[in-house]
Amino acid sequence: MTAAINPRSYWYDLAKSYSALGSPLKPCPEDIAAMEMPTFELAARNGHERVRALLLGVTPAIAEMRLPEGSSLLAVDTSVAMAQAVWPGDIPDRRWAVCGNWLDLPLRQGSCHLVFGDGSLNCLRYPGDFRSVAETISHVLSDHGVFVLRCYVRPDKREAPEDIFTEALSGRIPSFHHFKFRLLMAMQPSAGQGVAVKEVYDLWAKRNLERQLMNCHAGWMKKDVDTIQLYHESYTVHTFPTLAEWREVLSEFFDEVSVSTPKYDTGDRCPTLVMRPRRIRCLAGPA
Ligand SMILES: C[S@@+](CC[C@H](N)C(=O)[O-])C[C@H]1O[C@@H](n2cnc3c(N)ncnc32)[C@H](O)[C@@H]1O
Repeated sequence: MTAAINPRSYWYDLAKSYSALGSPLKPCPEDIAAMEMPTFELAARNGHERVRALLLGVTPAIAEMRLPEGSSLLAVDTSVAMAQAVWPGDIPDRRWAVCGNWLDLPLRQGSCHLVFGDGSLNCLRYPGDFRSVAETISHVLSDHGVFVLRCYVRPDKREAPEDIFTEALSGRIPSFHHFKFRLLMAMQPSAGQGVAVKEVYDLWAKRNLERQLMNCHAGWMKKDVDTIQLYHESYTVHTFPTLAEWREVLSEFFDEVSVSTPKYDTGDRCPTLVMRPRRIRCLAGPA
C-alpha cells in the first residue's frame, strides 16, 4: 500500500484505538466459528479447487481464521491507516491486503468462492450503497460461492436513549462497547438517515455521566470509555437496518442459506448471514 495517510480521517483514529475495541464491535471466537463453518462446507463441495476468498475490510480475526488448505484471502479496504495498524501481514500466495473501495471492487466476475464481511456494510448508506455493494459481490462470486456477513441489526422496536442510560446506571450493561453500540442504534432516526457518530458523542458529553457510570460498573474500563472520543467532531455516519430492511436489499441478489445468532450480550443484533448469489436463469426457449 503506497497511498498517503489522511491523518484527520475517522478510520485513521479508529486504527490507533482498534486494540481498545471489543465485542460486539469486533468479532469474538463465536463469530469466527460461525464464519469458518460455511467455509469448510464450501471447500468440501468444491472438491480439489483452491478456495479464493475476499474480505471486505482488514478485520485481523478474519485474516487469521482457519481456511481450507491452499486457500487465498484478499482484503480490500479504503483506509491505509487501518491496514497498517491492524492487518496481520501479507503472506505470499496466501493472504494480502490492497487499498480499494467496495463500491468499485477491482475483481473479475465469478473470481471468488467466498466473501467475508464483519459489520462492513454498516459503514455504508442504506439502501443505495448496500444495493451497489451487494450487486457487485453477487457478480464477483462464482455460481456456487458464498457471502458470509456479520451484520449489525437494529431491533424492530427502537430503544429510547434515556432507557439505555438508566440501564447503564443500574449496572446492567456489561461493557462500554455494548452501551455505545446500543446508543448508536437508539439514536438512528431511520436506516436511510443512518446515525451521525458526532450526535452520539454530543449526547454523551451533554449527559456528563462518565464518573457515575464508572462507579457503578466495576467491569467498565477507562480505555474503553475513551473510545467515544473517536466520535467527537467526526462526520462519519453508521447504518443499522432492521433484519427486515437488510433482507429487503440482500434478497434482490442472494438466497439466504443460514443465520447464526451468537449467544453473547446483544448477540441478537449481530447475526452472521450465509448467502448464495441468486442467478437469474433464462428458462424460456426460442419463441
Ligand atoms: C469492516 S468495517 C467494521 C470493522 C470490523 N468490525 C472489524 O473489527 O474490523 C471497518 C473498515 O471498513 C473500511 N471501509 C469503510 N467503508 C469502506 C469502503 N467503501 N470501501 C472499502 N473499505 C471501507 C474502513 O476503512 C475500516 O477499515
